[in-house]
Amino acid sequence: MKISNKLQQWVQEWANLCQPDSVHWCDGSEAENQKLMDQMVASGMAVRLNEKKRPGSYYFQSDPSDVARVENRTFICSARKEDAGPTNNWMDPAEMKSTLRAMFKGCMKGRTLYVIPFSMGPLGSKIAHIGVQITDSPYVVVNMRTMTRMGEKVLEILGDDDFVPCLHSVGAPLEPGQKDAKWPCAPIEKKYISHFPETNEIWSYGSGYGGNALLGKKCFALRIATNMARRQGWMAEHMLIMGITNPKGVKKYVAAAFPSACGKTNLAMLIPNLPGWKVETVGDDIAWMKFGDDGRLYAINPEAGFFGVAPYTSMETNPNAMLSCRSNSIFTNTALTPDGDIWWEGIGCDIPEGSITWTDEVYKRENGKPAAHPNARFTAPASQCPVIDKDWENPKGVPISAFLFGGRRPGTVPLVYQSFDWNHGVFLGSIVGSEVTAAAIGLKAGVRRDPFAMLPFCGYHMGDYFGHWIHIGEIAPDKTKLPKIFNVNWFRKGTDGKFLWPGYGDNIRVLKWIFERVDGNATAIETPIGYVPEKSSIDITGLTGVADKMEDILKVNREEWLHECELIEEHQKIFGDRLPAALKQQYVALKKRLME
Ligand code: GTP
Ligand code: SPV
Ligand code: MN
Repeated sequence: MKISNKLQQWVQEWANLCQPDSVHWCDGSEAENQKLMDQMVASGMAVRLNEKKRPGSYYFQSDPSDVARVENRTFICSARKEDAGPTNNWMDPAEMKSTLRAMFKGCMKGRTLYVIPFSMGPLGSKIAHIGVQITDSPYVVVNMRTMTRMGEKVLEILGDDDFVPCLHSVGAPLEPGQKDAKWPCAPIEKKYISHFPETNEIWSYGSGYGGNALLGKKCFALRIATNMARRQGWMAEHMLIMGITNPKGVKKYVAAAFPSACGKTNLAMLIPNLPGWKVETVGDDIAWMKFGDDGRLYAINPEAGFFGVAPYTSMETNPNAMLSCRSNSIFTNTALTPDGDIWWEGIGCDIPEGSITWTDEVYKRENGKPAAHPNARFTAPASQCPVIDKDWENPKGVPISAFLFGGRRPGTVPLVYQSFDWNHGVFLGSIVGSEVTAAAIGLKAGVRRDPFAMLPFCGYHMGDYFGHWIHIGEIAPDKTKLPKIFNVNWFRKGTDGKFLWPGYGDNIRVLKWIFERVDGNATAIETPIGYVPEKSSIDITGLTGVADKMEDILKVNREEWLHECELIEEHQKIFGDRLPAALKQQYVALKKRLME
């Protein structure tokens, strides 16, 4: 295998600094994967699950301090502070590099340095990009193997080309003879998830979990890729991609941006509760999009696996996710049953007696603590999803007809509404709000603004990112072919504090309205906030107990929206003079419509 000098030198340079015991170039083979799993089982880091119940699958418990993304330790190190913007943590790139170089020095002592060549996107696709991750975590290697296309074949395609260098260490060097921790990592104040957008580099130190450590995902495919996309005129978004086929056999693709743990995986794999409708999955977390020769916007899923929220995933709520992780999967921070399977809250059965919690204790109901961490996750190959779309690896991508935005909004926001036009749609994306979830550590409870579901993932000034969305509308080769834009909210609550809308498989009823709006075939009422369905235009046939609630589910209350306007105004102020004038105008127009 011919490896470019550039890549060899880069690896050598870091091996010299990090001082691992050995260097291993990952080939991505089954044998290599098995060897790593066996090593981790032997060291006590992994548990091999029952081969009859969960073939080829493994269980991990993280350190209790390392259970999710760490937003306050995530940095965008652009040359100028103002280019990182008000929603990102910033540090001077030279200063960050000097701080981190000192930490990386000797940080892999007693460990192996793994080199992971990976492709984000189908191998060889024009929309795909290659990265190489250096890591001292075998757990990261086996996860990257499922989440990306990884190994020797990537090196062949890479040749002498540039790659995104992704440097990662768990930050826990071993003294000679020192016993390793079950889940090595550094304390919170020593974690640094750093991005250098001008040079397309990622340096991540101190965490072994999820988006902090699987650098192809949020670090590359979103924070670095938003910068690449902005420079090159394409889009990198925190969006699922799904195909929807109606009973006549007509198919459309939609992409949807919901904040972390707000329902992307669930919507992407939904089993429709309306006869004749079909949903197929292209991706469940990230979309990269470019205009095609026909003037339409095409999306690829840069990932090859799902890193899905486990709790409350069940055969009832999301059978396709359950079937995706039936085998060859990795489970992190779920509970472990005595017969060697996994369990989590909401999986659909009682916890078996004698199960072990994610903190490695025998589960006792009276402790009142959940057995699985709320951000416990499964890592599963996308190819195992029973409804994976036939074009999910098509290098051209799939044409997008609609964008959906949404979040967890207990009040104010109706089940669904459509924007008046592209710029109004960009405004809807810019004001997305959601109750915070367990996907990140240390956030204050309550509703926070999470524009485009990208608050923790936009790699440059959020105001400029809004501008990029406006710009995409302007450079569209054919504006009539731009995706139509909608906002959805499955999470509105009644006075009893319960969700008004059943959600999950019944969300097809909302998708049906959206599908028909795209074709101009569904009726809507023009309200101050956008086009809202008439009560009768959401198909609720076969649903009991919902007809009476439709009014509350869809209502647009002027008082509530005037209050919302105050919040939007405050939110817009954050972006100063980088807020596109078009969005300011959208706000003014919304307020005027509400006051009329
Ligand atoms: P990330 O992987 O963090 O980006 O999250 P995601 O957007 O893919 O979230 P996911 O689909 O895993 O949903 C997480 C949580 O939302 C789970 O607890 C689900 O049970 C819940 N959820 C998803 N869809 C619905 C819905 O339609 N209604 C309700 N009430 N809850 C939902
Ligand atoms: C999210 O938090 O949006 C995720 C999980 O998809 S992680 O990969 O940890 O970012
Ligand atoms: Mn996500």
